Amino acid sequence: MPTDKVKALKEVKRVLGYIEKPALGAEDKDAIVKDSVENFNEHVNPGWLIYRKSVSTDATFVEWEDGAETFKDVYGKEFIDVLGGYGIYMCGHRNPEILKYVKAQLDRYALHSQELVDPLRGYLAKILAMITPGDLQYAFFTNGGAEAVEMALKLARLATGKQWYISMTGGFHGKSMGAVSVNGKGTYREPYKPLIPGVMHVEYGDAVALEKAISNLIKTGETVAGVIMEPIQGEAGIILPPEGYLKKVRAICDKYEVVLIFDEIQTGMGRTGTMWACEADDVVPDILVYGKAFGGGIMPITGIIARPHLWTDQIKENPWILGSPTFGGNPLACSAALATIKYMLETDLPGQVAEKGKHMMTRLMKMKEEHPILMDIRGKGFLIGLDYPTPEMGWAVSKGLFKRGVLTGGTLNNAKTNRIEPPGIMSYETMDKMLDLLDETLFEVEKEFSVTWENRDVLNA
Ligand SMILES: Cc1ncc(COP(=O)(O)O)c(C=O)c1O
Repeated sequence: MPTDKVKALKEVKRVLGYIEKPALGAEDKDAIVKDSVENFNEHVNPGWLIYRKSVSTDATFVEWEDGAETFKDVYGKEFIDVLGGYGIYMCGHRNPEILKYVKAQLDRYALHSQELVDPLRGYLAKILAMITPGDLQYAFFTNGGAEAVEMALKLARLATGKQWYISMTGGFHGKSMGAVSVNGKGTYREPYKPLIPGVMHVEYGDAVALEKAISNLIKTGETVAGVIMEPIQGEAGIILPPEGYLKKVRAICDKYEVVLIFDEIQTGMGRTGTMWACEADDVVPDILVYGKAFGGGIMPITGIIARPHLWTDQIKENPWILGSPTFGGNPLACSAALATIKYMLETDLPGQVAEKGKHMMTRLMKMKEEHPILMDIRGKGFLIGLDYPTPEMGWAVSKGLFKRGVLTGGTLNNAKTNRIEPPGIMSYETMDKMLDLLDETLFEVEKEFSVTWENRDVLNA
């Protein structure tokens, strides 16, 4: 495509005009929808529209605004957010108690010089150490979840001088090369082979298999740097650890001097009813990875925090050996994370989520007794999975909810499980409204697929 700077300038002015306008006119709205379809088809990925449109029953919905617990499309149609950006929106959307500090920081300076000492990074690291368990002490901030996972993997090798990683089947850690290598799902690994060497997967929940894998590697002359896992598996379909499993994993890692990495990108910051999921089991990892909700639903900020023995002289002497991301721990992102921590502590958001999660679970369990289509319900706090007999039925439930103004995860690849991950600030009233709409949708989909108590196991086979 030949460059056309005149055309580009005209186009960019038009788009900035939409951003600047307090309210869009009718023509603007139609133009934005039309442009979005064209732009995604021609410059992003046509697959995206096919995927999103299959959840919507009529039009293409283009998001434009949000409220505390909702998204709105350009025409003002409102959706209750039960997806929570897959974990971003613990504090709701544009929480004013967080936004005001980010705006104040934006009016002072946005990004850091890269050379002077940026104070907010230091404050955030110190306060993070106060709200993470055990002696987790040294923090390194990044921009995306996968990038933080890379830092955790690198730190395990750097600090120990050892090589192998053990990860879990079904685990998900992002889509960068290192993260993909430790992911536990074939579809997303296969196209990128050969992946990073020295990764072995064991069954999540099986402590015996984990110990065997480590001891066999050591017996055969290898070294094991780290075990990486989610304390509760998210993408795998909300899989809770068996009783005592995390403690056993901790003991195995101690026995063989292997670094234990907990990826709490999704489960952290109150999602499961405690600030960190590992706190509920009273287990402290050597490296804790966080992201998603850490920036309060306003700024992207992720990172790791590690126990002091991993911060070796090598890292202290060369602080850039682990990584040096240009935007990592920038002042805007740090202001958002600091305000998020303040908000969560002041409102006891994790405790609220524990209580609200119980209410949600009680109502869902009641629905399970009435709906043969609900095969299983699992979860903790506001991280809940609903299982259906077939992916088509799960997909139909997502579609039915969307039609009723409820946004859930339309995971086309594994639609057998629907994820319920609402903002932590969701009111009881909105929760009940959403659950009523789910109930209505379940009746509709059961009828559509003729699901009964008698045939559901056959359908599920
Ligand atoms: C447990 C876990 N780790 C890592 C990631 C990757 O984060 P990001 O998409 O920000 O790279 C995710 C994202 O869903 C996640 O759930």
